[in-house]
Amino acid sequence: MAQTTPNHTLTVSGWAALDSSGKIVPYTFKRRENGVNDVTIKILYCGICHTDLHHARNEWGITMYPLVPGHEIIGVITKVGGDVKGFKEGDRVGVGCLAATCLDCEHCKSDEENYCEQLQFVYNGVFWDGSITYGGYSKMLVADYRYVVHIPENLPMDAAAPLLCAGITVFSPLKDHGLVTSPGKKIGVVGLGGLGHVAVKFAKAFGHHVTVISTSPSKEAEAKHRLGAHDFILSSNANQMQVAKRSLDFILDTVSGEHSLLPILELLKVKGTLFIVGAPDKPFELPAFPLIFGKRSVKGGIIGGIKETQEMLDFCGKYNITCDIELITPDKINEAMERLVKNDVRYRFVIDIAGNSDLIS
Ligand SMILES: NC(=O)c1ccc[n+]([C@@H]2O[C@H](COP(=O)([O-])OP(=O)(O)OC[C@H]3O[C@@H](n4cnc5c(N)ncnc54)[C@H](OP(=O)(O)O)[C@@H]3O)[C@@H](O)[C@H]2O)c1
Ligand SMILES: [Zn+2]
Ligand SMILES: [Zn+2]
Repeated sequence: MAQTTPNHTLTVSGWAALDSSGKIVPYTFKRRENGVNDVTIKILYCGICHTDLHHARNEWGITMYPLVPGHEIIGVITKVGGDVKGFKEGDRVGVGCLAATCLDCEHCKSDEENYCEQLQFVYNGVFWDGSITYGGYSKMLVADYRYVVHIPENLPMDAAAPLLCAGITVFSPLKDHGLVTSPGKKIGVVGLGGLGHVAVKFAKAFGHHVTVISTSPSKEAEAKHRLGAHDFILSSNANQMQVAKRSLDFILDTVSGEHSLLPILELLKVKGTLFIVGAPDKPFELPAFPLIFGKRSVKGGIIGGIKETQEMLDFCGKYNITCDIELITPDKINEAMERLVKNDVRYRFVIDIAGNSDLIS
């Protein structure tokens, strides 16, 4: 079990939602002192994941207010605990969704600590000392080093930040299905948002034929020309959906809102897999017929393990993969969240927490 100090003496400025209006306001709070297994991180950038919005507005009904969101965190280490291995002051590091896991169960021992039953998230979690965890919409973070990763030197820190959640969430299922090393498959990505646009980049980089399935006609040109997708299907176009039936091996569904699975399942070949990472607040209807007539599978998953997150970042460093971002100052968080609700972002907002984007890249 992670060893920490219960002393919450460090004063931190951040931004929080205080109620289900989801409005983000400046908020000052306390963090624990740097324990033996901890590193202290000066936060430079934090992505705005749609999960932050779900939580800020209590759409999943589990929010503990005040909520300091943010789990796409990048910064520089300013302090290192005595038992920390592999990190030193000045390192460029990232923290994603995980704050703590038991370190002892079968999942923790097999580098899948993201499936640990005792997992605590970096915000809206309860740490071992009983404190509520606060995320990356803040100037500083104290993190157990076992949930911290290195950011490759060649990647710009702002555009790399969303890899900490969006990136690993789409990398992990592709890896799990052997799609990192076996090119030439037909991959579908449903929803071209923060997660979706990184999924397109990965699937392309792994050598697959990539089809975007989207509700937004305005995204077709960008999907094909900027992100490199081979095909684009407008999900509201019955003819396009009909033509593409039984054409895809694997589909990643990254959609944040309510939608029907039936037409998506029909796009899969026989024995194809629909992998769900999007988390709409309402339950899906799962129709039996496309499953039984196509021997298809429906699965889901949450982020990825820490070892796999480092592997993903190293891959991004090697092939220069980053996210397409809109960098904002903290006073624009509410505006950004409103635009996220309206599906008006290309493709991830990142908060310039330290206000020094000109100085550090
Ligand atoms: N499983 C995990 O570990 C994990 C990790 C991170 C996030 N998530 C969840 O994944 C989802 C996506 O996150 P994100 O940050 O990528 O969100 P995002 O940037 O808002 O992208 C979601 C995309 O889904 C499409 N969409 C939205 N509402 C829709 C609707 N009602 N019907 C059909 N399509 C719709 C839109 O793409 P088009 O315009 O192309 O249609 C939109 O850009 C969220 O629910 C988030 O909580 C899960
Ligand atoms: Zn996220
Ligand atoms: Zn565990």
